[in-house]
Amino acid sequence: MAAFGELLQSADWKSEKHAPVIDAPDRATSGDRVTIAASVGKEIAHPNTTEHHIQWIEVHFKPDNDKFSHQLSVNRFTAHGESAKGANEGAAFTEPVCATTVTLKASGTLYATSYCNIHGLWESSKRIEIE
Ligand SMILES: [Fe+2]
Repeated sequence: MAAFGELLQSADWKSEKHAPVIDAPDRATSGDRVTIAASVGKEIAHPNTTEHHIQWIEVHFKPDNDKFSHQLSVNRFTAHGESAKGANEGAAFTEPVCATTVTLKASGTLYATSYCNIHGLWESSKRIEIE
């Protein structure tokens, strides 16, 4: 039986449309507000239809000086063209784009995980240095 972590797929977001993109500064000052954006499809658009879409992105932070990680945000994308008239006939489609503002006290690694309803779990990471 595979460990849950083994279900997480990763790839370069510039060539794989499912890999989440983390847009955050490389460095920041301890205690200052930092906005961390995460998205899927920045380079190659992912479908956004009733049948095939990104359902959520989570953002986590693992400080270098701590054993445990912190969940920074949970972002659910819940409208994908559903309608009483039929699939994709609805008036709303939530794009898989989100942003979270945090303050950090230590350098570490940001992680984004995303979930496609057809192609499963994906992850990416980015370093952030706190001075
Ligand atoms: Fe997909």
